[in-house]
Amino acid sequence: MKIFFLFIVLSFFGATSYIDAQEINYDESKVPNYTLPDPLVFENGKNVLSKTDWIKKRRPEILHLFETQVYGKIPKHSKETHFKVMNEDKQALGGLATRKEIAVYFTKSDNHYMTLLMYVPNKRNGKTPLFFGLNFKGNHAIHPDEKITISEEVLKLGKRVPKRGAASSRWPVEMLMEKGYALATVYRGDIDPDFDDGFQNGVHPLFYKKGQTKPASDEWGTISAWAWGLSCAMDYFETDKDIDAKKVAVLGHSRHGKTALWAGAIDERFAMAISNDSGCGGAALSRRKYGETVAKINSLFSHWFCENFKQYSNKEENLPIDQHQLIALMAPRPVYIASAIEDQWADPKGEFLSGVHATPVYGLFGLTGLPVKEMPKVDQPVLQGRIGYHVRSGNHDIKQYDWEQFVKFADLHFK
Ligand code: GCU
Repeated sequence: MKIFFLFIVLSFFGATSYIDAQEINYDESKVPNYTLPDPLVFENGKNVLSKTDWIKKRRPEILHLFETQVYGKIPKHSKETHFKVMNEDKQALGGLATRKEIAVYFTKSDNHYMTLLMYVPNKRNGKTPLFFGLNFKGNHAIHPDEKITISEEVLKLGKRVPKRGAASSRWPVEMLMEKGYALATVYRGDIDPDFDDGFQNGVHPLFYKKGQTKPASDEWGTISAWAWGLSCAMDYFETDKDIDAKKVAVLGHSRHGKTALWAGAIDERFAMAISNDSGCGGAALSRRKYGETVAKINSLFSHWFCENFKQYSNKEENLPIDQHQLIALMAPRPVYIASAIEDQWADPKGEFLSGVHATPVYGLFGLTGLPVKEMPKVDQPVLQGRIGYHVRSGNHDIKQYDWEQFVKFADLHFK
């Protein structure tokens, strides 16, 4: 009774969040000792000896583990994606760019689609490389451009529909146009709204087997659904004569950073993946249990992952993989990991170490992954390898500074 009373008093003063915060470790000296699964050792203990071993056997083995234990398999179905260019304006942004909006239909019916917003620089020589990623607030929030359609999914928010341009600090459209890159984005809610409704909305029900009402325990959560949606957009890019589909960088901030890495892993048509502050379930090593942990993410955002992932809450050592292997799945393609020093929830050091421990896989291809083993100082990007990294000063966000590094990294690999 006394304890119950104490709990009521503490809750009244908002102290439960204090108690909660106590469970989160931000002390480097309290990071447990851990052994990471070696990307270059098969499940049966044999060594991966060659590039062919990696491509033919070890990569599929790791991919399968991420599919069945972390993000969930995308059900087999014949992809019937088709597209309609809804409008195209060659004089957008005062003539700087061409704006297009494309309906990407998920099945052969015209009922379920997402709207892809694209800007392509008008000053270009032939096909353009592209940055592509999900947005949080709707396509219309990435830029004040009045002509951007507000998606039906966003309109459902009623009074909470974000203002035009509300997220423009995160999308330096003009800078990208000037640097010769196209930009494409999709509101993630067009693919799967970001809340737990037992997978009744979004794309999941479109692919349920007869009688199925929710994904099986090894089937797709929301991150897999979002990643699948990104692949549907890739089907479109392959048909767009303005876009160099061999130079598409999939990128994302935070939950969308987790998604970008997973999209790059499952769809090798993405030539580059960029993770910004992706943290737990993204670039950060789970076994460090620093900042957000598997248990935390499973309790706060259980719909992001497959049901099987729940068994690893507080049991990270039982995970058959860790997140450095997600980075390794990009090899030999370039991948960039960005952290922010004040974003300790996302564990910047754990994000950096994933790059370090993915590096031997690049070695199999005769390439350098991350060229350094010590974490660089704040605002000193490491751009020379196939794995790029920076830790920016400041908080959890995606800023002009981050984009400037992504562009430099893309210039090195795409131009
Ligand atoms: C929460 C969540 C993170 C996630 C972030 C975001 O903080 O715990 O895992 O990356 O939201 O997507 O903004």
